[in-house]
Amino acid sequence: MPSLEEELFPSTPGKFKDRNRHFHRCFASTSTMFLWALFLIAITASYLCFQSFMDTGNRYFSATWGGHHWEKQVRTSAQIHRSNGMSVLVTGAAGFVGSHVSLALKKRGDGVVGLDNFNNYYDPSLKKARKNLLNNHNIFIIEGDINDMRMLTKLFEIVRFTHVMHLAAQAGVRYALENPGSYVHSNIAGLVTLLEACKNANPQPAVVWASSSSVYGLNEKVPFSESDRTDQPASLYAATKKAGEEITHTYNHIYGLSITGLRFFTVYGPWGRPDMAYFSFTRNILQGKPITVYRGKNRVDLARDFTYIDDVVKGCIGSLDTSGKSTGSGGKKRGPAPYRIFNLGNTSPVTVPMMVGILEKHLKVKAKKNFVEMPGNGDVPFTHANISSARKEFGYKPTTDLQTGLKKFVKWYLSYYGYNQGKSVK
Ligand SMILES: *[C@@H]1O[C@H](CO)[C@@H](O)[C@H](O)[C@H]1NC(C)=O
Repeated sequence: MPSLEEELFPSTPGKFKDRNRHFHRCFASTSTMFLWALFLIAITASYLCFQSFMDTGNRYFSATWGGHHWEKQVRTSAQIHRSNGMSVLVTGAAGFVGSHVSLALKKRGDGVVGLDNFNNYYDPSLKKARKNLLNNHNIFIIEGDINDMRMLTKLFEIVRFTHVMHLAAQAGVRYALENPGSYVHSNIAGLVTLLEACKNANPQPAVVWASSSSVYGLNEKVPFSESDRTDQPASLYAATKKAGEEITHTYNHIYGLSITGLRFFTVYGPWGRPDMAYFSFTRNILQGKPITVYRGKNRVDLARDFTYIDDVVKGCIGSLDTSGKSTGSGGKKRGPAPYRIFNLGNTSPVTVPMMVGILEKHLKVKAKKNFVEMPGNGDVPFTHANISSARKEFGYKPTTDLQTGLKKFVKWYLSYYGYNQGKSVK
């Protein structure tokens, strides 16, 4: 039996000789060689033509925005159905927090237009399913990117949005080791493009956007308060969110945009993000696969201030309701506008092994745990929010503990994926 290499590189000398002779015959005369060269050039040229045709095709033929029908869908979705209601552009609307906030706004009669680029950072079929859910509640989601200035300009021409709820972002701490550019693309460049569109809009909308508790970085003072220092980020994700806080401040200062930044603390719940630990643990536990539980130095357990999605939604809506107006018009500032930052946490950190224990109880399956010392690639050992500022401003008061919240998550998970999820890939 020949080995794999032998099959690929046959050692029979005769074969090579035959081939060489054949090769020699083909290129015997210069004229044949010239014809061959011409042929190669023709092949290359037609390939390049085809490529650029495909590119153009992607841009123009499958463009998912523009046109009469599209405009009508946007207008209908943005319609307000209550007195003093608002009209909100929600970016990242097919995302975890975005889909929940969109539904909550729509349910109370506000106008909502969603925007999402449906990227494949995690399973896009989950985003599509969230989109279907929103469509069933008459929320239209534009498939587009916050970096697309032409689309944004068009959008603000069609609808006089009172508010922008900006939740689109590249999330995740460890993924930055693989794809740092995507954090710059979404969290920096995309943010600036969106703010440009908001600043140009007449009237300017008030902007509420998702920062992150990760901006507290290596801080050790607990609980984390908004006035604490945030200049020691431990991950590129955190650094781009911190940059976002500075960039939004600039737009507030120069153009009079009303800005509210929300520092989310480990948001979890039904329709959550599959890249988060509680979600992937659930999948692995059900499949009988081991889970990796990270530990800090000296085997100290990691802890997170897990915050249930419904509580975060209340915080988002409270922020929108109290955001105050932008003051600029025609791209110029006409007076000072609010600039606010709030923690949205739960104020009761839970260790990761305790979280796993709760999952085991709800799933009625024991987890196979591998404890591993946390690699120094961006995760912080613990988070704990001081939420007194959000409580004071709009009565923010989380009411769901991790037991209750994970019970609801598991119920959703089993109804969405079924018990055998993963054995049949979904
Ligand atoms: C929480 O933050 C407020 C300011 O919003 C501050 O006055 C208070 O001292 C902080 N509490 C703790 C325990 O750090």
